[in-house]
Amino acid sequence: MKQKNLLYAGKAKSVYRTDVDGKLIVEFRDDITAFDGGKKDVLRNKGSYNAEVSAFLFDYLGKNGVKTHFVSMIDPRHMIVRELDMIPLEVIVRNIAAGSIVRNYPFKERTKLDPPIIVIDYKDDARHDPMLNDDLIIALKLATPAELKKIKKIALDVNRLLFDLLAAQGITLVDFKIEFGRQGKTICLGDEISMDSMRLWDSKSGESLDKDVYRLNKGDVMATYNRVAQRITKSTQKR
Ligand code: C5P
Repeated sequence: MKQKNLLYAGKAKSVYRTDVDGKLIVEFRDDITAFDGGKKDVLRNKGSYNAEVSAFLFDYLGKNGVKTHFVSMIDPRHMIVRELDMIPLEVIVRNIAAGSIVRNYPFKERTKLDPPIIVIDYKDDARHDPMLNDDLIIALKLATPAELKKIKKIALDVNRLLFDLLAAQGITLVDFKIEFGRQGKTICLGDEISMDSMRLWDSKSGESLDKDVYRLNKGDVMATYNRVAQRITKSTQKR
């Protein structure tokens, strides 16, 4: 497969067309950003740690009945994916109160959220990703009611699968963000699932094992990503 023109460059990934119809290449770059792009750095190998974890988790979810865009890895930072018609929603599932939900609402940090809370933001940098509700999503024609129902169901399925997999490695899945797209009429998981998009705590020590280490200057970001990538990819796969 040959990489062709750049289709889209986000804050941490670039997406390229290929010479194969319906297949794209995602490059996981070493750029890391936080606070709406207000904090930016380039950290060596960050892209490959995130790519490795994303590939592993997409493969695991795929084996457990979740449709994803993942096809295969070309090298440690280049992933072949199926082309999706992306839906501009950031679907966040929260098991424990942390991050923006604690800043914006009267939740005490570390409160267990049972059942988990789904929050959906509009993926629009210029508008700073405002939070949506079902009526807004439908009025803006971002998804049909049936698609929205499906998206929420898949988000909760993904939560259950990831929560169990990570718990077996002594990692608590606090929250995560996923994105979806359409392949024909099918809703598929796209984007990435990595230390940039999940909030992970060591189950025993409570230590942050994700981008919060970067956001909050909690220590050596790449040493953390390296360690957590090893822990996650050693997990026993459920089939
Ligand atoms: O910042 P906040 O607490 O709302 O983030 C919730 C979860 O969604 C975190 O795991 C965070 O890494 C992820 N997220 C993301 N991309 C965004 C916003 C949040 O991956 N644009």
